[in-house]
This record gives sequence, C-alpha cells and structure tokens, in this order.
Amino acid sequence: MNAPAFQKCINPDCGKTYDIAEVHPGCPACGELLDVAYDWDKAELPKRFADLRVDKTAGPLDYSGVWRFRKLLPFAKEGTQVTIGEGRTLFRAAPKVAEYVGLKPGRLYLQYEGMNPSGSFKDNGMAGAFTHAKLVGAKVAACASTGNTSASLAAFASATGIMEAVVFIGSGKIAMGKLSQALEYGARTFEIEGDFDDAMARVLEVSARAGIYLVNSVNPFRLEGQKTIMYRILAGLGGEPPDWVVCPGGNLGNSSSFGKAFGELKDLGLIDRVPRLAVINATGARTLSRVVNEEGFRWNGGRYDRPRMDAFFRDLKDKAHTIASAIEINRPVNLSKCLRALDITDGVARDCPDTDILDAKAVVGTEGVGCEPASAASVAGLKKLVEEGVVDRDARVACVLTGHLLKAPEATIGYHAQDGSLEEKYGITDGRFPNGPVPVPNDIDRILDAVKEND
Ligand code: F0G
Repeated sequence: MNAPAFQKCINPDCGKTYDIAEVHPGCPACGELLDVAYDWDKAELPKRFADLRVDKTAGPLDYSGVWRFRKLLPFAKEGTQVTIGEGRTLFRAAPKVAEYVGLKPGRLYLQYEGMNPSGSFKDNGMAGAFTHAKLVGAKVAACASTGNTSASLAAFASATGIMEAVVFIGSGKIAMGKLSQALEYGARTFEIEGDFDDAMARVLEVSARAGIYLVNSVNPFRLEGQKTIMYRILAGLGGEPPDWVVCPGGNLGNSSSFGKAFGELKDLGLIDRVPRLAVINATGARTLSRVVNEEGFRWNGGRYDRPRMDAFFRDLKDKAHTIASAIEINRPVNLSKCLRALDITDGVARDCPDTDILDAKAVVGTEGVGCEPASAASVAGLKKLVEEGVVDRDARVACVLTGHLLKAPEATIGYHAQDGSLEEKYGITDGRFPNGPVPVPNDIDRILDAVKEND
C-alpha cells in the first residue's frame, strides 16, 4: 500500500500542507519551497535499507533505477509511474581518481549518471515530475535550463507523449550536445536574451501566467526522483552509507534531494548514520559557497534569516561565468533546501576554479567514464577538501558524476588540443593533462615514426 502523500511547506512557521493533486512552484501562503511528504506510518518498509531487494528484470518499474525504490517515494499509485528506462547507472571504484584526490586506494567511488537515457541525472527527477504531471493531467511542460533539464524534458516529452516540451535557455549559454538533444527531440526551444538566471525568472512567470507545468527543480516531485541517486550508492555499498558524498551545485536541486533522502532513511531507521555532503560550486558561480562560508547562513531549523537572504539577492549584481556551463547559476532556486541538506548531513560547500575542474575532468576520463565539466567539480572539490584535511584520506567517498562527456565536446577538445579556444572566453590557458591530436603528414614512414615516438 502507498503511504499517503501530501505537499508541505518547508518553512516551520508556515508548514501549510497541500494535496498532491495541486501544482505549485512554491508555497502559495508564504512563497517558500514545498516538499513531498509522506505519512510513513502507513508505508510497508523493510527494517533496513539493505533488505529493499528487487528483481531488476521483473518489469519496467523494477528496470527503472528510480521506481525500483518506489517504496521510498510512494506518491503515485502502483502502475501509474512514468519511466523511459532512467536510473540504470554505474557505481564503481575509481583508483586513478582516488590517487589524484589523495584518498587511500579503494576509497573513492564514482556514481556515473551519464548513463541515463538523456545522458544526465535529470532523468531521475523527470520520471518523478512526469508521473505527477500525468496525475494532474498537465499537457504542456516548461523549464529554464543550462541544457540538461531541457534535454531530459524533451526526451520524456517525446518518448511518453504525456506533455509537450517548451524550453527556455540563455543565449549562447548551452553546450552543443545538450542543445542538439532539445532540438532533435522536438522541444519548442526559446533562446532568451540573457543567462540561466534570467531564463529561470521568466519561466516562473510564464508557467504561472500560461498555466504550464513547470519541471524545474522547484517542482518537489522532481526531487523525489533524484533521491534515488543516493539509494543506488547505498545499494552499491550493500546498504552501508559512505562517509562522504560529493556533488556539484548549480540550482541546488540535487544536493537538496540527497539531504532529504538521507534524512528520511535515518528517521525511518533504515540506515544508522548519514553521510556528510559536500556541494561544490564553480568559482565563477559561487553563491552557495559565499552564502555558507562568508555570509554564515545556516538552516537554523528552517528559520534562516529570510530578510537578510532577500537583501543578499537584491544586492547581488554578479553574473555567473564558468566553463562548467551546467552550473553557471548565481540565483539557485533551491538554496533554502540545500541549507537544510547541509544541516541534515553536517555538510560543507566549496568552490573550485575552472582550471581545477577541467584537470579533474581529464583524470575522470582516464577511468573510461567521461563526464562533462560541471560533473568534475565534485572531484576537484574533493581534492580540495582532502588537501584541507576536511575529508580524511581514509574516508570512503562517492563522487556524483552528473552528466556525460559528450554533452560538452567543445570544452574537452579545447582542453586537450590547447588551441586557445578556452582562453578568450574563460581565461583558461593550459591544463595539466592535455592529450591533443598529433598532426602527421600522410606519409607511411612519418606516420610510423610518430606512432613509435608516442609508444
Ligand atoms: N551537473 C550537471 C551536469 C547539471 O546539468 C546540473 C544542473 C548540475 C550538475 C547542478 O545540479 O542544479 O541540482 O544543483 N543543471 C540544470 C539544467 C540547472 O538546467 O540542466 P543542481
């Protein structure tokens, strides 16, 4: 049986609840974000996470790496969940990355979300959002995106036919692979003059005025799907939590969902301890890092200083700028939930420069599981945290690689070819691990010489 589900405002001084059949981008009463909440007493759960066994071949819902854990996101009636085969991802040890970041051998794992149908972790959340959209009968969906949400929305829209896709992107701000997906899957794509933060503000207005279903991560049903990324890490470790989980931070939906996932599992007694969470910004888009480390904001039981936060954003003039375009965001819509996640997990926030992110990305590539720049922020951030002594060399750590290498080929080729293409726009002059193509004349002896030289 499903546990009764409802929506609940995360502000403890409001705490209003709403039916799951309602659609709100935030609490209608106070404007804070909403959670999907459950009456867990009615849920049928095993005693321990490790006992949540499933037969992955039993049918489409068990094939899905999201719905295989549907007991832990029980807002939909059995059989109504939407899936396009998301969440069948790879969790594996990565010895070269362990060495690079300074962890002891065997302590570093990668949770590789690039294997999703649209090539990023967004598909986990989109399965949740589409399931809710079907429940409420929505016909058109919109998102603002740095590229992956739009690719995922476009894929789900065309694969399921449940909703049409409308996509808002910042002009010139989206990596080639991602734009190709939105166009090819048939999404109506609007390039807004401005960046992601501008597009996000507009899509909130557009969806409210035109009655369009919003699939950005203010949608709490999306975050339910993204909780399962953590369940797959736990499953990969036999139910034992790692010491740390490290992920990139952009709009902060992922980190928010991870905190919720672990908080719920701990409250339900399915795990004994909660991993610490490290959320990594790019230095050119470091709002979370600033808010936590310089401004000193804390969740404070849900009573963080809202007027001061509003003033912070009113005064914020900086435009985000980073080669990690997926996280080129200065006004993260889930900031409050991320503060809650850091509170639940005793977490930290950091930021890393683009050069460190690209070096980390190149090291990830040597493991044969390439990722896009934003994903590698997790590895660059972990290296920094090990150097700082915050993460122990003995710690068991899972880094979430959020998107596939092929999403942003221009960054990869610019880095390896050292052709100056990253210099003008991002000030990146060289990397530590270039592996550019070697030009050779079409002459057999010269080719053989070149091959031997590189042996
Ligand atoms: N990594 C990748 C590859 C992303 O696409 C994103 C976000 C993030 C990390 C950050 O996750 O927003 O949950 O903190 N991409 C969004 C998009 C913003 O529009 O595709 P977050």
